Amino acid sequence: MRAKRTSLVHIIYFSRLNLSSDPAKRSEQIGEIGRTAQKKNEFAVITSFLVIEGSFACQVIEGERSSVHETFDRVSADSRHRDVQISEWREIAKREFVHSFKSAQRTAGNETLFAKANLLPMLQRGTPKASAIHGLCLALQSDTMSRQGIDHLFV
Ligand SMILES: Cc1cc2nc3c(=O)[nH]c(=O)nc-3n(C[C@H](O)[C@H](O)[C@H](O)COP(=O)(O)O)c2cc1C
Repeated sequence: MRAKRTSLVHIIYFSRLNLSSDPAKRSEQIGEIGRTAQKKNEFAVITSFLVIEGSFACQVIEGERSSVHETFDRVSADSRHRDVQISEWREIAKREFVHSFKSAQRTAGNETLFAKANLLPMLQRGTPKASAIHGLCLALQSDTMSRQGIDHLFV
């Protein structure tokens, strides 16, 4: 029999980024966030996906309850974004994200997925649905994995 799993939760939040308007500086700042987040998340066995849409961030963070709590406390106190709002925080039966930290922004290759999710107007009104954020993160993950030819490993 399999060992009983610890209780898994996910948090879905959105926020407004306080990043540089200079594209080179901004991508350096995003890279820096990713490097720290990946190390910390690996250590805490957190899996996550961050979407950057215009000046907004949306992230799904999943893992063991206390690890997610600690991670979110740190993330929400970070001055590189503000107006951090939880859209959903609940127990989940299993993880849906594969990597400790991945982030995606609009590119020519994923434009249709961003357009379909149509998050920007919802973010501007301050009313994005958790299901829309979650759906876009999953779609972007599947897209990347199928381009890499590893999607069959995670069905
Ligand atoms: C949009 C955004 C997403 C972030 N995501 C994570 C994350 O998933 N995990 C994490 O540990 N830190 C994340 N961070 C970085 C944390 O806010 C924090 O800087 C980092 O964990 C280091 O914390 P410390 O300086 O208290 O050690 C994120 C920051 C931002 C702005």
